[in-house]
Formats: sequence, C-alpha cells, structure tokens
Amino acid sequence: MSTDIRSTVPSSVIEDDQTYLMHTYGRLPVEFVSGRGAILVDSAGNEYVDCLGGIGAASLGHANHSVVAALKAQVDKVWQVGNYFYVENRNELARDVSELLSALCDEDGHMMGSTGTTWRTFFCNSGAEANEGAIKVARRWGEVKLGGASGIVTARQSFHGRTLATLAATGQDRFHAESRVTRGELLLRQPPEPLLARSCGPLGRA
Ligand SMILES: Cc1ncc(COP(=O)(O)O)c(C=O)c1O
Repeated sequence: MSTDIRSTVPSSVIEDDQTYLMHTYGRLPVEFVSGRGAILVDSAGNEYVDCLGGIGAASLGHANHSVVAALKAQVDKVWQVGNYFYVENRNELARDVSELLSALCDEDGHMMGSTGTTWRTFFCNSGAEANEGAIKVARRWGEVKLGGASGIVTARQSFHGRTLATLAATGQDRFHAESRVTRGELLLRQPPEPLLARSCGPLGRA
C-alpha cells in the first residue's frame, strides 16, 4: 500500500483532462482504474482504502457482486423510459425504501422505531437534485402546515451541490463568488427571521 500519490498519474491523462474537460474541479493526482469493496487501485497498481465512497455514491463498495449482477440484469432488459411511463421494478424499489424507513422512523422521520408509516420516494440522479427536491418539499410543508414559512436553514461552511439553488444554500462564499450566486437569493420568498439570520443564515438572506 502506497502513501505517495504524487507520481501515479501519467502526464497525458492530466493534459487530456485539462484539454477536454471544463475546469470545474481540482483533482488529486491519482487515476483510479479498478476497485473491489473498500479497496481502490490506481493506474500504477497502488492500492488505497477508499474512505470517501464516491461522496456516498459508492457506499456499497466497488464492484459489489449483488449490485453488478442487478445492474447487468437490468441493462440487458430495458435502459431508461422516462417518468412518463410505468416501468418494472420501480415500485418494488420504492416499497423496499418505504419498508426500510417504516421499520426505523416515526412519521416525523425520527429514528424511534416503526409506526407503520408508508413513505413515498422521489428518485433522482444527483445529490443536488435530491437537495432541491427536499427544499421544495420543506417549503410546501411550510406553506401548508406552518402558515407560509419558507426559510431554509443551512450551516456555515456547508456544501449542498452545484445547481444554482443549492449553491445559494451553500454556506461558503467562495462558491457564491465563482457562480455569481448570492446566498439565498434564489429561494427568497419572505424576509428571514432575524434570529435565524444571525445564528444559522437561512436562505433568503443575501
Ligand atoms: C454534502 C453534499 N451535498 C450535496 C452534494 C451534491 O451532490 P451531487 O454532486 O451528486 O449533485 C455534495 C457533493 O459533493 C455534497 O458533498
């Protein structure tokens, strides 16, 4: 196992990255070519323990046998049909999610044990999209249940994704500057509570 990651990337890989990809991310100088479970292997054959898990997207590990088998079986059958149609297995997955949550959470989402609640899932493709969906649901809840509350509280130094709305929710000014976004401006619907503005910086505060 190596701790020196500085010399593992062929210079042609860095050059092609600079040439053909937009310069939106800084990268550590390691090129991964394979993985198994929590182990990643770079193009020089060095092994690493993956403590990041694709920022949560690979939380079941790399080349997980069950995941690989399920994906192969699915792409052999149907690729993508859009949300305009029913498709085999979507409901089953949502039911599994519901039963998992129902076994763990009460109806307010507290991890207190089952209340038999049926949960509905919103499937999406990215963390930013999930956060945008969560913000919309929270605002709808505020409108219906809390007399129109619409402020969203986020923490200082937080990060919530790279869409315009989730950038506005992000608590780091450098992201706002890069994308010409003002914190909270996109989600502003009413002036925030002064207390929240001072302590937590809700969306809605420039
Ligand atoms: C805490 C957090 N929320 C949201 C996101 C956005 O996820 P995605 O890149 O899948 O849109 C990230 C991505 O790094 C994240 O770290």
